[in-house]
Amino acid sequence: MNKCVTVIVGTKWGDEGKGKIAAREAKDADLVIRATGGANAGHTVVYKGEKLALHLVPGGIVYPQTTCIIGPGTVIDPDVLWSEIQMLKNCGVFDVEGRLKISGRAHVILPYHKDLDELHEKMKKHPVGTTKRGIGPCYSDKANRIGIRMYDLLLPEIELEKKIKEATKLHNQAFKENGMEEKIIDVRKLAIRCRLLGLRLERCITDIAPIIADKICYNKKIVVEGAQAFRLDLDHGDYPMVTSSHPVTAGTLCGAALPPQALKTVIGIDKAYNSRVGNGPFPTELPASIDENGNVIKGAKPLEGDVVRDLGHEYGTTTGRPRRCGWMDAVILRSAKYTSGIDYLCINHLDTLGEIGNKLGYVKVCVGYLYQGHMIDFYPDDIELTHEIPEPIYETLNGGWTIDSSCETYEDLPELAKAFIKIVEDASGIPVKYLGTGPANDDLIVREDV
Ligand code: IMP
Repeated sequence: MNKCVTVIVGTKWGDEGKGKIAAREAKDADLVIRATGGANAGHTVVYKGEKLALHLVPGGIVYPQTTCIIGPGTVIDPDVLWSEIQMLKNCGVFDVEGRLKISGRAHVILPYHKDLDELHEKMKKHPVGTTKRGIGPCYSDKANRIGIRMYDLLLPEIELEKKIKEATKLHNQAFKENGMEEKIIDVRKLAIRCRLLGLRLERCITDIAPIIADKICYNKKIVVEGAQAFRLDLDHGDYPMVTSSHPVTAGTLCGAALPPQALKTVIGIDKAYNSRVGNGPFPTELPASIDENGNVIKGAKPLEGDVVRDLGHEYGTTTGRPRRCGWMDAVILRSAKYTSGIDYLCINHLDTLGEIGNKLGYVKVCVGYLYQGHMIDFYPDDIELTHEIPEPIYETLNGGWTIDSSCETYEDLPELAKAFIKIVEDASGIPVKYLGTGPANDDLIVREDV
C-alpha cells in the first residue's frame, strides 16, 4: 500500500500550535482530514491576510486544490459547522461546499449534549474543566448506541423525530431530577431544526471511504490535522481528566478511516514551555495567580506562571480561559514517542521561551521524574492510585535569548536556544525538525538535515 499519510498530533494537553505545521503540510496536500473531537478544538488559519477561526473545518480548506474531510471519529455541532462554512464562503474561499466532505458516520452534537456537559460537570466532586461543547455526552451517546449521526439529519422528519425521542428519554429524566426542567427537550422542535440543518449540509454529507481509497491508490498526499493531544487521550492520558476521544496517532487514524499501512510520517507538536487548560496533573506547572475557578486574580504579585502565561498570551481560543503554564516536560515527549510513534518534533514558541528566560534569568527543561522514591524517565501510569504527582528533575539554562528576523536557519539561532533544543532531543529521543519562532505561519525554521 502507498505510504502517503502525514499525521500531526499534539504531544501534551493541546494548544501546542498544530495549525502552523498543518498549514505548511496542507499546502501541497490532496486531502486534509479532521479525525477526532469537535468544536472543543480551535485554530486560526490565514486567508488572503485575514485570520479565520476554525473549530471543525480542516484548515486545509484555504488551499483550493485540497479536498477536506471531517471524519467519522469526530462529533459535529451542525450550527457551528454551518457558520464556519458561511464564514469561509463570505471570505471568498473557493468552492467550500464542493470540497468539504462530511462523513455521514460522524455523530451530531445537539443542544442537550451541551446542557448535559454542564450538568455532569456540576455534579462531579472533581470537575474535568471541560470546554462545555457537549463532547463527552455526545461520545457517550455514541458508545451507548443512541447517538444521532450526520446521516440521520437526512432522514424524513418523522423518522428523525422518533430517533431523537428514543435518544433523549433518559436525558429528559436527568434534567427533571436535577431541577433543570427548562432544559427538557422539545423533540418535535429539535427534529425540525435538525432537518433544516440536514438540508443545508446535505451536499457535503457522504461516504468518505471511496475518496480515501482513491487518494491512497494514486499515492496522493494526505494530511491529518490532529486535535487535542496525547495526555488528553481517553485511554492513554490523565484519566479521568481527559477528553472523550483518542488524539494519539492510532486513534487519529481510526477517526479518519485511514489504514495504518498508509502512514508515512508522524509529526508531534509541542511548545518550548508547556500549558494546560482544565484540571488534572501537570508536573512542571509553575505557581500563578489563578483562583480555584481558573480566573486570574487581579492585582496579585506576578508569579513565574503568570510571566509565562502573559509572555505566551496563554488564554484559550475556544473558551478564553487563562491556561496553566509550566516548563517544557521532555519526559512526556519520550512517552508520547512510543505511544504515538512520533518521527519528528515541532517546537513552537522558541522565541517566547527566550523572552521568559530574559525576564526570569533562567529556563528549565524537565528531563526525568522522582516518583515513589525512584528516578524515572517515563510518565507513570498509576498517579490516580498513588495520588503522587511526579516531581520534575530539571536541567537549567541560565539566561534567555532573543530571536529576530536575522535568524533564518538553525545555525543562526542563539547558542542557548540550541542548547535548549539539544536537551529536549536527548531527553525525549525525538529529533526536532521544526522550530516556531514567532506567531506567523512563516515564522518557522525547518532543519532540512534532520
Ligand atoms: P472536553 O473535550 O470539552 O470534554 O474537555 C475535556 C478536557 O480536555 C478539558 O480539560 C479541556 O480543557 C481539554 N481540552 C479539550 N479540547 C482541548 C483543546 O483543543 N485544547 C486544549 N485542551 C482541550
